[in-house]
Amino acid sequence: MHFEGPRRDFLLDAALRVLTSIHSEDPAWWARELLCRCLGFTRVALQMAPKAAVSTSEQQQFASWLQRFVAGEPLAYLEGSCGFYGREFAVDARVLVPRPDSESLIEASLALLDPTQALTIADLGLGSGCLLLTLLAELPHAQGIGIDVSAAALAVASQNCAAMGLTARCQLVQGSWLAPLSAQAHLDLIISNPPYITPGEEMGPGVAQYEPHLALFTAANDPLGPYLAILERASACLRAEGWLIFEVGAGRSKQVQEAAMSAGFRWVETRVDLGGVPRAVVLQNQAQTCRSR
Ligand SMILES: C[S@@+](CC[C@H](N)C(=O)[O-])C[C@H]1O[C@@H](n2cnc3c(N)ncnc32)[C@H](O)[C@@H]1O
Repeated sequence: MHFEGPRRDFLLDAALRVLTSIHSEDPAWWARELLCRCLGFTRVALQMAPKAAVSTSEQQQFASWLQRFVAGEPLAYLEGSCGFYGREFAVDARVLVPRPDSESLIEASLALLDPTQALTIADLGLGSGCLLLTLLAELPHAQGIGIDVSAAALAVASQNCAAMGLTARCQLVQGSWLAPLSAQAHLDLIISNPPYITPGEEMGPGVAQYEPHLALFTAANDPLGPYLAILERASACLRAEGWLIFEVGAGRSKQVQEAAMSAGFRWVETRVDLGGVPRAVVLQNQAQTCRSR
């Protein structure tokens, strides 16, 4: 990447040329956004001092960001963090980038849970920890258990857990879905955003190329596999009348709802995401007593 000189406006012009040449949507907006985020100043600061000098290392950093952005890498990985429900989470290629759609699971959970109670919450498929750690931050007396099969994802979640001061209230466990828990867990809530994309399904640019496949894909011939694996033990691990909240892919809410009802759950509601897509399926355990394994 060649810049005309070590000034903000020269970097901006170069970015605009590159983004225009690849037909990026709104290249002028993105050129400014990338420059501001990369070099850590606001759009107002850029407007006030467009000709301000930049250092050689800032030029190199911006050239690298531009190249990675053009290749389709998510902005959250470039920045190393992502906002979710008003908090920042460290993210990198070891975890899925938290999606605003998943905030509907937080809304659904908070509508059901009493913040004055000592609750126990398990998050299956923890990833960055955005769901569980948000709930623990919002519910000051709750304890959490975050489970993920990926040790790499757990390392990121552990970093976020420490940064949010939640280590004392959160246990991180490597394992598959509910396998690490005993049937006497008496959980108040299980929350899960399992992988639900079938191979070949349409996805946004860069998603399949950069985000962990373990977080994205389920088997083509078994699209509900992760849900069924969770449902096999969910009732036994929840307290009587405990809650189960699943994130689902577009067009899958009814199938997941029916599978859960067959496993003994009562369907409570399905919340839509910001785009109006049914996203959070809310269920309640109907078992009166916790069954043994
Ligand atoms: C869609 S991501 C969700 C991450 C995070 N909860 C979120 O909402 O952003 C699914 C997560 O499930 C994990 N996962 C995949 N298979 C699993 C399994 N058998 N048991 C536990 N976790 C699993 C992946 O490693 C990934 O972190």
